[in-house]
Amino acid sequence: MCGIIGCVGRDERTVETLVHGLEKLEYRGYDSAGIGVVGDGLSVSKTAGEIEALSQKLSEQSLAGTVGIGHTRWSTHGPPTDENAHPHQDCTGRVAVVHNGIIENYQELREELTAAGHRFSSDTDTEVVPHLIEDALEAGAEPEAAFRSAIDRIDGSYAIGALIEGTEALFAARNDSPLVVGLGLDAEGDGSAELTGDGPYFIASDVPAFRDYTARVIYLEDGEFARLDGGVSVTDSDGIPVEKSVETITWDAEETGKSGYDHYMLKEIHEQPRALRQCLSGRIDELGGAVDIEEVGDLSPTGVQFVACGTSYHAGLYAAQLFNQAGVPAQAFLASEYASSPPPVGDDLVVGITQSGETADTLSALREAANRGAETLAVTNTVGSTAARECDHALYIRSGPEIGVAATKTFAGQLAALNLLSLATVEGGRSRRAVVPALRDLSGDIQHILDDSAASEVAEIYADSNAYFFIGRRYQFPVALEGALKLKEISYEHAEGFAAGELKHGPLALVTPNTPVFAIAIGDGDAARKTVGNIKEVEARGAPVVAVTDGRNDAAMYADYVLEVPETHPRAAALLANVQLQLLAYHIANDLGRPIDKPRNLAKSVTVE
Ligand code: G6P
Repeated sequence: MCGIIGCVGRDERTVETLVHGLEKLEYRGYDSAGIGVVGDGLSVSKTAGEIEALSQKLSEQSLAGTVGIGHTRWSTHGPPTDENAHPHQDCTGRVAVVHNGIIENYQELREELTAAGHRFSSDTDTEVVPHLIEDALEAGAEPEAAFRSAIDRIDGSYAIGALIEGTEALFAARNDSPLVVGLGLDAEGDGSAELTGDGPYFIASDVPAFRDYTARVIYLEDGEFARLDGGVSVTDSDGIPVEKSVETITWDAEETGKSGYDHYMLKEIHEQPRALRQCLSGRIDELGGAVDIEEVGDLSPTGVQFVACGTSYHAGLYAAQLFNQAGVPAQAFLASEYASSPPPVGDDLVVGITQSGETADTLSALREAANRGAETLAVTNTVGSTAARECDHALYIRSGPEIGVAATKTFAGQLAALNLLSLATVEGGRSRRAVVPALRDLSGDIQHILDDSAASEVAEIYADSNAYFFIGRRYQFPVALEGALKLKEISYEHAEGFAAGELKHGPLALVTPNTPVFAIAIGDGDAARKTVGNIKEVEARGAPVVAVTDGRNDAAMYADYVLEVPETHPRAAALLANVQLQLLAYHIANDLGRPIDKPRNLAKSVTVE
């Protein structure tokens, strides 16, 4: 969703640094952008539309300053217009504020401020903040105190950055919305609240925004304030200095580039072999079949609840099957519906699956679980994310940064990590011996698909269909759901996934010669045999069928086209079938000319409930 970048100490490169940071945050999804800088005075430039439109505007203005903030907005309060874009300002134009999140009491604050004579120029909740700061400044408060007093008045979720004219400092605060501070190479400090040195210093909603300049970060916690000027000081809500540890990001800046691919999504699909090697590295003993994940210690849950959204929810559905098969009752819940789940009991573990670690619905479900007394675990890609910090345990999937809005390599990483979790905590030696070699072979098997897939040819044939259906059973059912989600996210075409057995209980009415059905049939067991039966049902009604199969059943016999996957354990085959469906979605969307990495209306990290 919205993205924040701020910098201090970049001198004449301030504007360039902010725009570059905004470009790096584009992946989060946005519909307007803007920057503000403080130098001789405070100036702001903002616009609806893409960063390109902002750059165009900036080329006609001359903004200069040593401290700055920038923002990409994903509309929540008011449409994407120039006025609603951030930064927002007070009546005097001396204050500029960028904000992610939602200010819940903004209506009453706006009424109060309007009655006191403030003029509002946007529909946003954010705009109350600069006016509150203005009030405090007018009452004689120093800039930092004015900022703190404004933050004291607001309720809700926020990551906020503010500039105040006449002060070469950047003020920041967070509550329930991510904000990280970057420390430039010259910054000195080893974990004390005060970091000094020439900087530069940065704030951002996510590290890629400033990763080109530094790998050293401190993560702000809820309720903390930061002041960035000739150093960084972090304080709590009472103004008491807080000890912060400086962490080092382990991935390279290049990992956030496209490396010659047309789209991040395609690059990230191709990064899956490496992402999986990283996920498994040091965690499996390929010879003995042992699985050891340090992060989860000796957890031995008697039941598991998975909470997640979107693609991560599909990983939850898959993981619930792993635990159920091992005799440990498990269920996956949409995080936003967790309130209606049965309460966890005894030694139940609640696992939040979240690539970003910042999805508001998932965080809220995890907090609910903790309130209900459950032990919690975050399965996430993002070191230092809110989910990782708030849960009792964090299992990192180690996929590296994912920029495309549509999750690809992180879904693979989640499935692999959840296999490890299940093998390490509840499964016996027999399954380990069967599954570990299949996990180990995943990277090679996926590479094989990436090299030989017929997905682009199949995509070309079906790119102008009326709708697309995906079916699968057992481990392949979540993959069918994910295949449909991927396609609808990036192609804007109607796509649905069904449990193969459910097709005849309703969806079959939708099947026509212009609705291809993608059927995943793996192995020679009962599930595949029954799926082949379902394939015959749709074929009899004239629908084209594309089988995603390892060839160990009759699916290919009844299919118009085949997307092949190498033979492996059905648990691992789910990841392989998924790669074929990722490629299919990519090529259909590409054939239709869609903006693949930035699908309309979607955001990578959804930080509102
Ligand atoms: C958003 C994204 C989805 C993603 C979901 C969960 O809706 O558009 O692609 O699957 O959030 O994200 P998370 O970071 O929690 O895995």
